[in-house]
This record gives sequence, C-alpha cells and structure tokens, in this order.
Amino acid sequence: MSNNFIDYILRIRLPIILFVAVTSFAITYFASRAERDGVGYTPDQPINFSHALHAGQMKIDCQYCHTDVEKSRHASIPAVSTCMNCHTIARKDKPEIIKLTKYYTDGTPIPWKRIHKVPDYAYFNHSSHVNKGIECQTCHGPVEEMEKVSQVKPFTMGDCLSCHRNAQSNLPYLTSVKNGPDNCWACHR
Ligand code: HEC
Ligand code: HEC
Ligand code: HEC
Ligand code: HEC
Ligand code: HEC
Repeated sequence: MSNNFIDYILRIRLPIILFVAVTSFAITYFASRAERDGVGYTPDQPINFSHALHAGQMKIDCQYCHTDVEKSRHASIPAVSTCMNCHTIARKDKPEIIKLTKYYTDGTPIPWKRIHKVPDYAYFNHSSHVNKGIECQTCHGPVEEMEKVSQVKPFTMGDCLSCHRNAQSNLPYLTSVKNGPDNCWACHR
C-alpha cells in the first residue's frame, strides 16, 4: 500500500468513518436507553391517569390496583374493569373517562406504555422484595405525588448490587434485614 493511499485514508476517509461510527453508536445507545436504564423516562399515557390524585389525594392503596405485587414476580397493571368499579359513575361525562369507557365497552386493553424494565436475561421478583417489608418508594420514588409516572432510580446491575451488599444501610426503616444475594446465578438463572 502506498504512503499516498494511507495519507488519503487518514485525511479524508478516517474522519468520515469515525463520524459514521460515533453517530451510529450514539443513536443506538440513546434510542435504547429507556430499555437499558430509563431514568427520567416519563411517557405520555393513552389515558391521563394521575397517581397523585388516586394514590395521593384519594389514598387508594397501591395494591388495590397492583394486585400481584405480594404474590408474584410482577406487580401487574390493573384491567379497565378495576377503573370501572368507580368510573361507571365518577366523572363519566369527562373526555378522559369517555375514552376509558370506550376501552371497556370495546373490550380492548389500554395500551399503557411500560416504564420500568429489566432485560429478560436478569431475574427480578417483586414478591420476594415486598414481602420483606421493602417499600415501593425505595425503588420507584414518591409515586403517590406523581401526575405522570417517571422512572427515578436506575435498575442497572450495579444498582441492584449496591443495595444487596449493604441492605441495612439502604433500608434504614427496617429493623433487621438480610443482605440480598450477589452470586451471578441468583439474578441470571
Ligand atoms: C387506581 C389504580 C392505581 C393505584 C391506586 C396505583 N396505581 Fe400504579 N399504576 C396504575 C396504572 C393504570 C398504571 C399504568 C399507567 C401509568 O403509568 O400511569 C400504573 C403504573 C405504575 C407504575 C409504573 C409501571 C411501569 O410501567 O413501569 C408504578 C411504579 C406504579 N404504578 C406504582 C404505584 C404505587 C407505588 C402506588 C401506590 C403508592 C400505585 N402505583 C397506586 C394504577 C394504579
Ligand atoms: C376508588 C375509585 C376509583 C378508581 C378505582 C379509579 N378512579 Fe379515577 N377517579 C376517581 C374519582 C372520584 C375521580 C375524581 C376526583 C376529583 O376530581 O376530585 C377520578 C378521576 C379520574 C380522572 C380525571 C377525570 C377528569 O378529567 O376529571 C381520570 C382520567 C381517571 N380518574 C382515570 C382512572 C383510571 C384509568 C383508573 C383505573 C386505572 C381509575 N381512574 C380508577 C375514582 C376512582
Ligand atoms: C426492590 C425494588 C422494587 C420494589 C421494592 C418495588 N419495585 Fe416495582 N419494579 C421494580 C423493578 C426492577 C421493575 C421492573 C421489573 C421487570 O422488568 O421485570 C418494577 C416494575 C414495576 C411495575 C411494572 C409492571 C411489572 O409488574 O413489572 C409496577 C406496576 C411496579 N413495579 C409497582 C410496584 C409497587 C406497587 C410496589 C410496592 C408494593 C413495587 N413496585 C415495589 C423494582 C421494585
Ligand atoms: C433497596 C434494596 C434492593 C434493591 C434496589 C434490589 N434488591 Fe434484590 N433483594 C434485596 C434484599 C434485602 C433481598 C433479600 C431478602 C431476604 O432474603 O431477606 C433481596 C433479594 C433478591 C433476590 C433473591 C430472592 C429471589 O427473588 O430469588 C433476587 C434474585 C434479587 N433480590 C434480585 C434483584 C434485582 C435483579 C434487583 C435490581 C433490578 C434488585 N434485586 C434490587 C434488596 C434489594
Ligand atoms: C442482584 C442481581 C444481579 C447479580 C447478583 C448479578 N447480576 Fe448481572 N445483571 C443484573 C441486571 C439487572 C442486569 C441488567 C443491567 C442493565 O440493564 O443495565 C445485569 C447485566 C449483566 C450483564 C450484561 C452486561 C451489562 O453489564 O449490562 C452481564 C454480562 C452480567 N450481568 C453478568 C453478571 C455476572 C458475571 C455476575 C456475577 C459476578 C452477575 N451478573 C451478578 C443483575 C445481577
């Protein structure tokens, strides 16, 4: 290869190659960020549902809607029928409730946008945390103050481990708590 050719690559092609590599990395990285570590992710939802109103002001228990959180791996999102326990009457003339009622009568589930997510290759179980007395707010922040739910804490491996290795100091409101596991197969099974 001639020196001229290498010169040419370095002067003209290399910046172009680097530019393409860097932008495509950046696009992939930021486009997939919400999936990886979506701190700050606050999507608009198909119905303008407010936790501040329902869980805060009206003090409806989290588990009235997130029924599986003590029993299973997933907390679960309530079906429209749970909303209709109240909204066949409450505010039924409001535009958002008319929309809600249409989902109900059509029998279509509301396409809520998922906010918190760990990748499929990692294992997380709500019941084993909630049954030890760990509060929702420790991991999800003050949801009862949120008009729109936002992810406030990262769920990276480092974040799981930093609580597991020091559970007592991360959970000062529990009088005694065992550390969580830090062996690989506990979370990658
Ligand atoms: C009246 C029913 C209701 C009550 C009560 C309620 N939620 Fe929710 N929750 C929902 C619905 C519906 C969604 C999906 C729409 C949204 O994100 O706002 C949701 C979403 C969430 C999410 C985000 C889920 C995701 O996609 O990652 C979290 C976290 C959450 N709720 C926690 C709580 C906590 C903590 C409480 C109690 C302080 C609570 N919720 C009380 C109905 C409820
Ligand atoms: C325990 C009863 C109850 C349940 C269950 C409930 N709501 Fe409500 N909701 C209310 C009441 C009462 C209001 C009106 C409160 C106010 O304006 O002071 C309200 C207000 C609303 C509003 C605002 C309406 C407006 O524009 O004024 C929306 C949207 C809403 N709810 C959606 C939902 C959704 C979605 C669910 C199910 C995930 C749900 N609600 C479950 C009682 C309930
Ligand atoms: C130790 C941390 C932790 C605690 C405590 C916790 N969560 Fe979660 N939550 C998570 C993680 C991590 C995810 C993502 C799970 C996944 O992708 O499988 C999540 C997801 C959710 C979701 C989305 C749907 C689902 O089931 O994955 C809801 C709703 C939710 N949490 C509600 C709650 C409620 C309500 C409580 C309290 C009763 C609570 N969480 C307690 C960490 C926690
Ligand atoms: C705020 C503290 C805290 C955070 C954050 C947390 N954990 Fe835990 N976790 C615990 C504690 C405490 C235990 C042990 C409970 C016991 O056995 O007494 C535990 C237990 C576990 C277990 C063993 C029980 C079971 O379900 O098999 C797994 C697996 C686990 N956690 C996964 C995770 C993953 C994955 C994350 C991150 C997405 C995470 N945890 C985040 C505190 C935490
Ligand atoms: C407490 C739970 C937990 C334990 C223990 C754990 N991991 Fe993870 N790991 C996770 C979670 C959650 C993710 C997803 C992180 C994300 O989305 O950024 C992950 C991601 C990974 C990844 C993907 C690359 C990355 O960093 O995102 C590898 C590789 C990995 N873990 C290997 C290991 C090995 C090896 C061990 C044992 C030394 C281990 N993990 C122990 C929870 C755990």
